[in-house]
Amino acid sequence: MACVQTSPSRPYHVVVFGASGFTGQFVVEELARTAFEGPSGTLSWAVAGRSKPRLEKVLEQAAAALSKPELRTVEVIVADVKEADSLTAMCKQAVIVLNCVGPYRFYGEPVVKACVENGAHCIDICGEPQFLEGMLLNYNSPAAEKGVYIIGACGFDSIPADMGVLYTRDQFRGTLTAVESFLTVSMGPEGGCIHEGTWQSAIYGFADSGKLRSMRRKFNHQPLPVVGSKIKRRSALFFSDEAQQYAVPFMGADPSVVKRTQRFLVEQHQESPVQYGAYAGVGGVGNVVKMMFAGMMFWFLMKFSFGRNLLIKYPEFFSFGLFSKAGPTRKQMAGSSFQLVFYGEGYTQGKDPKDGEPDGKIRTLVQGPECGYVTTPIAMVQAALTILNEPKALPKNGGVYSPGAAFAKTTLIDRLNKHGIQFSVN
Ligand SMILES: NC(=O)c1ccc[n+]([C@@H]2O[C@H](COP(=O)([O-])OP(=O)(O)OC[C@H]3O[C@@H](n4cnc5c(N)ncnc54)[C@H](OP(=O)(O)O)[C@@H]3O)[C@@H](O)[C@H]2O)c1
Repeated sequence: MACVQTSPSRPYHVVVFGASGFTGQFVVEELARTAFEGPSGTLSWAVAGRSKPRLEKVLEQAAAALSKPELRTVEVIVADVKEADSLTAMCKQAVIVLNCVGPYRFYGEPVVKACVENGAHCIDICGEPQFLEGMLLNYNSPAAEKGVYIIGACGFDSIPADMGVLYTRDQFRGTLTAVESFLTVSMGPEGGCIHEGTWQSAIYGFADSGKLRSMRRKFNHQPLPVVGSKIKRRSALFFSDEAQQYAVPFMGADPSVVKRTQRFLVEQHQESPVQYGAYAGVGGVGNVVKMMFAGMMFWFLMKFSFGRNLLIKYPEFFSFGLFSKAGPTRKQMAGSSFQLVFYGEGYTQGKDPKDGEPDGKIRTLVQGPECGYVTTPIAMVQAALTILNEPKALPKNGGVYSPGAAFAKTTLIDRLNKHGIQFSVN
């Protein structure tokens, strides 16, 4: 049984909202796999979404996939983002809502609001910095008052990167000052792709990036102090000796999420800040040419509403098959994996950071299964179990947190290690 208890009026440890979405269905399966783990007992959970038949179909499918007929009896809650009362009713019943309804810029805020008002913690798998930082701006104080944890970016974006930086820092003997990470993704003979839900989130996110810059000014943040040498920004495309292929700056939420975590640790715990640069391998020259062509079309079309509609209508065409309406098959997912290698530098024990350049290096690795629909559900579910089982290791007050800020003092990394997302010194 989890430490945090349910009650007759709040009967579910976890409610998966958006369970009938492409990602939601795999979160349901992951939760079903882990709900009965642990020395003593089970989690109580339910699925939620706007269509009862679609939710029942997901339970049916999970029951068949996992050979667990009892999943057919999991409770179904009908809730629609556009109906505030339905969100209130859902949030009142849950200790934690796992929110899989995106794009978050369109659907996320009413869920955060309902969670805060009704005392449910909320975990999402958002990779949209504008939404994540907007929630911090608008809901940090009300969430703190209610003792509610709102923890965004708990999927592949950005648990491996955020927890990976903390892991690298903790493994380094001394003061870690800077880390660069290189992501490479491997696919099996069946290939692979990403579901259109993420494509849509990316289109609207990039199209609106001007608003993100103006919103950030509202925080009035001072730049984080730099310890050691200032990290060098690499160019927009370069051959990476680390990844042994061409690489580009990572376009997702990881750098901004890691920065939020570092700011929290510096400001709240007076820890030494770690600078971070994130890069992703894109492969050989053929891929670079495709990526440049697709990138140019994307940047041009996303600026106009007709262009965005075209991009949304034909994800396969405009992304050279990287995104698709159908999403990856189970076989494709089984053949895919990721490696995120961290190259850190810092001052070894006893060396004063005021005294010259960093003198120590470390290389760590986070690796795991397919990113979007295997790693993401594992990370999301383990984040929820961490809240349920280690409430005393979370920040003292509720609020809106990045994963690293929320889970820095917990055993989340050990939990991930046991569930196929492995952290190691390399
Ligand atoms: N962090 C990561 O690494 C990661 C990985 C995967 C996905 N994601 C993110 O997760 C989100 C979902 O992606 P996806 O591919 O699963 O998309 P999807 O298949 O389109 O799922 C969207 C879900 O939202 C639900 N929904 C839409 N409007 C709703 C409303 N008014 N009320 C209640 N539910 C509503 C849909 O319900 P119906 O089923 O009834 O249509 C569906 O369950 C995206 O933002 C994506 O970027 C992040």
